[in-house]
Amino acid sequence: MCGIFAYLNYQVPRTRKEIFETLVKGLQRLEYRGYDSAGIAVDGMAKSKANDPNNNSICLIKQKGKVKALDEELHKRGTMDLEEELQTHFGIAHTRWATHGEPSPINSHPHRSDKNNEFVVIHNGIITNYKELKKYLNSKGYEFESETDTEVIPKLIKYVYDNREKEHVSFSTLVERVIQQLEGAFALVFKSIHFPGEAVATRRGSPLLIGVRSQDELPCKHIPIQYNSGHNSDGVQDKNSRNKTESVGEQQDVMDVKAVEYYFASDASAIIEHTNKVIYLEDDDIAAVINGKLSLHRVSRRTGEESVRAIQTLQMELQQIMKGNFEAFMQKEIFEQPESVVNTMRGRICFESSKVILGGLKDHLKEIKRCRRLIMIGCGTSFHAAVATRQILEELTELPVMVELASDFLDRNTPVFRDDVCFFISQSGETADTLMALRYCKERGALTVGITNTVGSSISRDTDCGVHINAGPEIGVASTKAYTSQFVALIMFGLMMSEDRISMQKRREEIIAGLRDLPDMIKKVLELDPKIKCSAEELYQQKSLLVMGRGFNYATCLEGALKIKEITYMHSEGILAGELKHGPLALIDKHMPVIMVIMRDGCYTKCQNALQQVTARQGRPIIICCQDDPETIKYAYTTIKLPHTVDCLQGILSVIPLQLLSFHLAVLRGYDVDCPRNLAKSVTVE
Ligand code: F6R
Repeated sequence: MCGIFAYLNYQVPRTRKEIFETLVKGLQRLEYRGYDSAGIAVDGMAKSKANDPNNNSICLIKQKGKVKALDEELHKRGTMDLEEELQTHFGIAHTRWATHGEPSPINSHPHRSDKNNEFVVIHNGIITNYKELKKYLNSKGYEFESETDTEVIPKLIKYVYDNREKEHVSFSTLVERVIQQLEGAFALVFKSIHFPGEAVATRRGSPLLIGVRSQDELPCKHIPIQYNSGHNSDGVQDKNSRNKTESVGEQQDVMDVKAVEYYFASDASAIIEHTNKVIYLEDDDIAAVINGKLSLHRVSRRTGEESVRAIQTLQMELQQIMKGNFEAFMQKEIFEQPESVVNTMRGRICFESSKVILGGLKDHLKEIKRCRRLIMIGCGTSFHAAVATRQILEELTELPVMVELASDFLDRNTPVFRDDVCFFISQSGETADTLMALRYCKERGALTVGITNTVGSSISRDTDCGVHINAGPEIGVASTKAYTSQFVALIMFGLMMSEDRISMQKRREEIIAGLRDLPDMIKKVLELDPKIKCSAEELYQQKSLLVMGRGFNYATCLEGALKIKEITYMHSEGILAGELKHGPLALIDKHMPVIMVIMRDGCYTKCQNALQQVTARQGRPIIICCQDDPETIKYAYTTIKLPHTVDCLQGILSVIPLQLLSFHLAVLRGYDVDCPRNLAKSVTVE
């Protein structure tokens, strides 16, 4: 949930000011992952003061609030010479989303081992056995200053360091010993006064990648992994030979360049402006940089696992993650939807032949067609994408389709069978609940399919097959373009499944034609923005807002209400119009704002009935309807008229006015649209 960023310059002279700027910029790119507080750790004293006993001191600077507050603090301090030039330096930085302990400087990262800051750590994830570890460390005399789970990590590494048996132990071995004691999820970066200029990073269950920039050509395409020889090839630890291995391959270090910079980050958006060469760490990899050389270590090799990590080239452009002329990333992302849906379809649909090929699924198609049922699993907006497409998937695949909230799916220990096909829908590809559900389904032998927006994410790597929705980076915490692209990707899956069904051809052709016209229709909906802004001006002081609809547009109501509540903090509920008379009708009077989504589809008449029930109670509905529907318009207080498309695609258009409405409401209410309180973009804790 938090954002990790670290920067190491080796034989590349940088002033402190430049180092601060790099760290702060990195954090700003990650701020969407959490923004309760931020902090950095850098070398404290000038290296030139060689005789100074504090030569290797580490300075910690932490601040409550957003990264901007930390930046101001760094400039206020004045105790450090900002012009001091450092040939080699390692700085770590963190932006936090509180899980254990309130947002405060003391609970912020980096956390430290002791008052001398011998070891400092930044952490993303959650340590589930921290209470046991804390108790143990307390009994050994270690005193804790924060309420966080993270603080056990620096204390533990100091404990391991203090209790080494006089042997020389490398920094990465210390970290290896520490992570063997940790349970839960983590991405960690360590810095220590005992290992100046060295960096060690590791992960399990939380993402971490390393960017590399060098003036020379990088000497390799892969980094070999060095295994601890104290373990057999099945990964079973030989207790007697633990840690015999120390630097098995010092001579194998491959990132051997004269001047090099490394960037460690929770995701690529913090790295891309420096380099497009990255290495994604896998669970339990330990990356160490010593004298500018990067090496990778693991305790053991898992069966079938690659013994190298590739240096990959990121395809992302910096401008993709900049705000451009928009007020907020969310607004930019809403307006990107005509292109993002095209990118989802690009190279996958042939409009002339009505063929749809999803490369990541084609080898598994036979198996999917034979399955017992499809289970669609996700959280929040990604779950809504499953709700939105369930009906058309049932129709096109003729299979039962279950839609599941990942947390509830796990709470129920839902029965899963080998002949189930389970879809994991996730923009970030890192959502802890969805990831746990994926592991649960894998253990039960189901075929697992990822629908993600993040190449290299845990879900895209851990599933058997999948589809990248290619919506481009989504920075605003409120998901918008990812939803419409997930929607399109799932429909394309249904189309691919039904290609050989003669009875479905007409329906398929109609949908494919609808997809072809979709970008232009989205553009037309976006032109309604000024009108929607006027509606927002009428509504922004209200306490509550109901959104009602049914059938293909029920998901629109759920998703619209979620957008409204998460960024405007107004109470908002998505109501299935079929349920109106079973309770929600009691809420309706002339004061309660109601938005009704009424489209020309199979539920049209039933929606008209709901409209009558609302107007009979003096409700004054704002109606989102098709532009060719004079009947509905008669009963509306205000109408938002949309172009008419195929029933199963209409939800892609009908959600956009609600995305725009929530954006304008939030701005009018004076809230930070991209960083809603208490929320984070990537929810990597349960
Ligand atoms: C709402 C929102 C969240 C996410 C949810 C799942 O705007 O963004 O509800 O949809 O946290 O996240 P992903 O899709 O990354 O798994």
